[in-house]
Amino acid sequence: MPFHMMRSFAFHFSRRVVKNSVSKQYLGLCAYVNANCIFDIDRSARIEFNNNGFLVLGTERSSFRGWVGPSKLYMRENSKLIFNGYTQIGGGSLVWVLENGRIEFGGGGFTAGKSIIIAKESVKIGNNCQIAWGVTISDHDFHRTFTEGVQNLETAPVEIGDGVWIGMNATILKGVRVGERAIIGAGSVVTKDVPAFSMVVGSPAKIVKNNVEFYG
Ligand SMILES: CC(C)(COP(=O)(O)OP(=O)(O)OC[C@H]1O[C@@H](n2cnc3c(N)ncnc32)[C@H](O)[C@@H]1OP(=O)(O)O)[C@@H](O)C(=O)NCCC(=O)NCCS
Repeated sequence: MPFHMMRSFAFHFSRRVVKNSVSKQYLGLCAYVNANCIFDIDRSARIEFNNNGFLVLGTERSSFRGWVGPSKLYMRENSKLIFNGYTQIGGGSLVWVLENGRIEFGGGGFTAGKSIIIAKESVKIGNNCQIAWGVTISDHDFHRTFTEGVQNLETAPVEIGDGVWIGMNATILKGVRVGERAIIGAGSVVTKDVPAFSMVVGSPAKIVKNNVEFYG
C-alpha cells in the first residue's frame, strides 16, 4: 500500500480524530495526508470533522508541489482543530495549536504552501477563504511586552470572515477580525480589524478601496 494511503488510514483511525460527519472523498476517509507530513499531536488533543469535513494536508493545488517541503501539524495539551467542510492546506505549511487553543476552518477554502497558522486561544477561518502562500496568521505574540510597567495584550482571538482573500506573504496578527470578502494585499501586516468588502494593503495595513469584489 502506498505510504500516503497508509498515513491517511492511520490519521482517520487515530483516537485523536472525532468524526461527527465524514465526506466520502477519499476511500471514505476523513483526510488525504501526504506521506511526508510531520505530526506531533498530544494525546489529549482532538481533531474534529463536521458537515462532511475533509482535510487535504500537504499537497499543493498549483505547480509548487515539490519545493514546499513537508507540512507540520503540532497540537499541544487539550487543543482542538476543527474542520467544517472541505479544507486544503498546502505543502510546507505549519498548523500549530498551543495548549487549550483552537483552530477552526470553514469549508471550501484553501491555504497554499508555506503558510503558518498558530493559535494559543482561537483562530477561526470562515468558508471559502483563499489564503495564498507564505501567509502567517497568529493570535499570540510569544513574548510579553510592557509599556511603563503595564503588560500589553499577548494573545487575542483572530477571526477571518467568509470568502476572504489573503495575498501572498501577508501577516495577520492577534485580535484581528477580517470582514466578509475583504482582500488583503500581498505582504501586508494586518494589526487592526478589516471591514467587509474592503481592500487593505501595507504595513500596518490600511484601507485603500471599499466595495471591492474579486473572482476566481
Ligand atoms: C491587493 C491587490 C489584489 C490589489 O490590486 P489592485 O486592486 O489592482 O490595486 P491597485 O494596484 O489599484 O492598488 C491600490 C493602491 O494600493 C497599493 N498597493 C496595492 N497592493 C499593495 C501591496 N500588496 N502592498 C502595498 N501597497 C499596495 C498600490 O500601490 C496603490 O497605491 P496608490 O493608490 O498610492 O497608487 C494586489 O496589489 C496584490 O496584492 N496582489 C497579490 C495577490 C496575491 O497575493 N495573489 C497570490 C495568489 S492567491
